[in-house]
Amino acid sequence: MAQLCFLCFFFFFFLFFAGPAASQQLYFAGFHDSAAVAANLTLTDIAKIEQNGILKLTNDTSRLQGHAFYSSPVRFKNSSDGKAFSFSTAFAIAVVPEYPTLGGHGLAFTIAQSKNLRGLPSQYLGLLNATDVGNFSNHLFAVEFDTVQDFEFGDINDNHVGINLNNMVSNASTTASYFVDDGPTKQNLTLKSGRPIQAWIDYNSAVNSLTVALSPFSNKPKKPILSFNVDLSPILHEFMYVGFSASTGLLASSHFVLGWSFSMNGPAQSLDLSSLPSVPGPKKKHTAFTIGVSVGAVLIVAIAIGVAVFITWKIKNADIIEAWELEIGPHRYSYKELKQATKRFRDKELLGRGGFGKVYKGTLRKSKTVVAVKRISHESKQGLREFVSEIASIGRLRHRNLVQLLGWCRRRGDLLLVYEFMANGSLDSYIFDEPEAVLSWEQRFRIIKGVASGLLYLHEGYEQVVIHRDVKASNVLLDSEMNGKLGDFGLARLYEHGANPSTTRVVGTLGYLAPELHRTGKATTSSDVYAFGALVLEVACGRRPIDPKSRSEELVLVDWVWENYREGRLMEVMDPKLKGDYNAVEAVMILKLGLFCSNDSAAGRPSMRQVVRYLEGENGVPEEISAPKVVEGGKNGEGFDDFVNSFASTCSYSRTGNDNNNMDTDMSFASFSTSPLSLLNGRD
Ligand SMILES: *[C@@H]1O[C@H](CO)[C@@H](O)[C@H](O)[C@H]1NC(C)=O
Ligand SMILES: *[C@@H]1O[C@H](CO)[C@@H](O)[C@H](O)[C@H]1NC(C)=O
Ligand SMILES: *[C@@H]1O[C@H](CO)[C@@H](O)[C@H](O)[C@H]1NC(C)=O
Ligand SMILES: *[C@@H]1O[C@H](CO)[C@@H](O)[C@H](O)[C@H]1NC(C)=O
Ligand SMILES: *[C@@H]1O[C@H](CO)[C@@H](O)[C@H](O)[C@H]1NC(C)=O
Ligand SMILES: *[C@@H]1O[C@H](CO)[C@@H](O)[C@H](O)[C@H]1NC(C)=O
Ligand SMILES: *[C@@H]1O[C@H](CO)[C@@H](O)[C@H](O)[C@H]1NC(C)=O
Repeated sequence: MAQLCFLCFFFFFFLFFAGPAASQQLYFAGFHDSAAVAANLTLTDIAKIEQNGILKLTNDTSRLQGHAFYSSPVRFKNSSDGKAFSFSTAFAIAVVPEYPTLGGHGLAFTIAQSKNLRGLPSQYLGLLNATDVGNFSNHLFAVEFDTVQDFEFGDINDNHVGINLNNMVSNASTTASYFVDDGPTKQNLTLKSGRPIQAWIDYNSAVNSLTVALSPFSNKPKKPILSFNVDLSPILHEFMYVGFSASTGLLASSHFVLGWSFSMNGPAQSLDLSSLPSVPGPKKKHTAFTIGVSVGAVLIVAIAIGVAVFITWKIKNADIIEAWELEIGPHRYSYKELKQATKRFRDKELLGRGGFGKVYKGTLRKSKTVVAVKRISHESKQGLREFVSEIASIGRLRHRNLVQLLGWCRRRGDLLLVYEFMANGSLDSYIFDEPEAVLSWEQRFRIIKGVASGLLYLHEGYEQVVIHRDVKASNVLLDSEMNGKLGDFGLARLYEHGANPSTTRVVGTLGYLAPELHRTGKATTSSDVYAFGALVLEVACGRRPIDPKSRSEELVLVDWVWENYREGRLMEVMDPKLKGDYNAVEAVMILKLGLFCSNDSAAGRPSMRQVVRYLEGENGVPEEISAPKVVEGGKNGEGFDDFVNSFASTCSYSRTGNDNNNMDTDMSFASFSTSPLSLLNGRD
């Protein structure tokens, strides 16, 4: 082994020092010498050096990020031939989750063009933001140690190492592991175990190879777990900053770097883990209990029984907690905090009223984050509990076109849900009646594309099929850059893939309800597509799906669009507020897509995957769209009346909201009771 190492060393020596090349060495065995550290490391956001010389990138509070970069830029490239140099680095990290096995999101060794990275927390690891992911101009190289599986970025699992080039989607990734004793046996390593792990990253520019090795020990394994062939020359500038980035999200861990060595054009020195600062243990309650046993046999038996009882009790309790507290427990806000944030739920802070309750604007005092707080009142404890455990799953949904749930709080019959704040409110206020601002066609098209990709994620991107059940303009929220995000998963229910949805509940809003819903009561991905079709048509036409104020032949939007399509006057349905300023090809596509999705028969509608392909221009919308309605004998209004009557007689519904506009009222039935009627009656 020693011989091999020796050979190895010479091999490297040859590769790296053969030609004249820049060399730079960094070595931090812990970050003890505060003066040198202060001179050499730039810490941003919440990163800091602890007293024992450990570099703490984040603590275990939600949605934080921390960065630490070597203060001076490092020469990574030969200026005359533009070829990136070889480099090598070794570092020791430790990830301590807030609760055992529940932590996030991860950290990354980073080479960036700036030492003041301004990324997003959560799945972005503080590296990039939603607009610049994948952009070639990022000039970002990162090796991520990721502890949450984000479907948006195609993560393989919640414990992996990945090589990321300008992107959060990894170019190569593998489960965190190492080769035992340099043999063929691969052993998994749990990144968020709280124990130190050493990582080695080597880039050899002569053969364009990049390797990553891990180990829980001080010696470098001979076999890397990840190899990727890449020429980093186009990614790296001549001078770059090198360091670390980490973030937390809804799930949070403390991320530590215990020591770091880096070498340009030469092998980096491995770290001796035993000489590095020690990692603070996990917090209080869940720590293991250590019992010294050196007394008589009787006492041992007594203790053993006690421990067994304690463990059983612990497991039993842990289960209960996990079911609906622990999962989102870390993000449970105190009622006081939310009361303060919303100024005692003052009417002035009211953002709107939904089917279930009021939504307030709030500012969390500690983090100064602006949030939207939805207050839902419900009498039944049982119903609320089911609902909360559902929220727990929903809280793990992450996509740039879904409004992010940040946390929750329960107080007696009140459930408070804390969402990210959407600066521009809901889409309906921009398209119907007399909006304050008219959205341009580009904005509308982008919003539709965004909503489609959010909905596709719900249908196909998560472990389970999530049916939104209430897609409509007022549930599409707009952020400060007018990106559309789907909100209000309060009604969504989770189904296992392939399982039969239950049939007892009808949820949704008139005009967006697929016709089969009133027959079968079964919400499906296809009924979501129907509602999406209604949304698409309203956005293009600037009108509600059912508009009591219009002339009778225009009452039902989809029929009116269909009539115009059939008669070859499709462009006449476009929103007059656009004043003809739109891309006609896109407009035709959108209108046809709206009709396609609005087909009365579920089988006649496309899937969201197809919809996204049409919108991205990968596939063309079919030339001929078939008639959405299969009504016999003509007049459009009649079909609709039948629908309302039969619906109303099948299951009674409550009308809430705007009385002067009663055709468009919410018929929102809770998903947390066994039948709509039981909710209305307030019992289970
Ligand atoms: C850069 O490359 C040129 C040509 O290959 C070589 O002559 C020069 O020494 C290199 N410079 C450094 C700093 O490696
Ligand atoms: C950090 O900076 C000091 C000067 O303040 C220098 O002496 C020391 O070598 C530097 N350490 C590293 C690892 O670069
Ligand atoms: C984590 O860091 C933030 C920002 O420095 C601080 O406000 C918060 O109190 C810290 N949380 C814990 C648990 O130490
Ligand atoms: C995303 O990051 C890029 C580059 O750092 C920056 O120019 C842009 O303003 C950021 N976008 C947002 C929405 O923060
Ligand atoms: C990439 O970023 C550059 C500069 O920030 C910007 O001009 C360009 O439009 C971006 N490209 C894409 C595809 O977003
Ligand atoms: C890395 O992946 C991105 C997309 O995820 C791709 O655009 C890029 O070309 C890949 N780079 C290399 C070197 O394979
Ligand atoms: C290691 O982890 C992977 C991914 O979680 C799993 O498929 C594999 O079975 C594990 N291997 C061992 C030896 O536990």
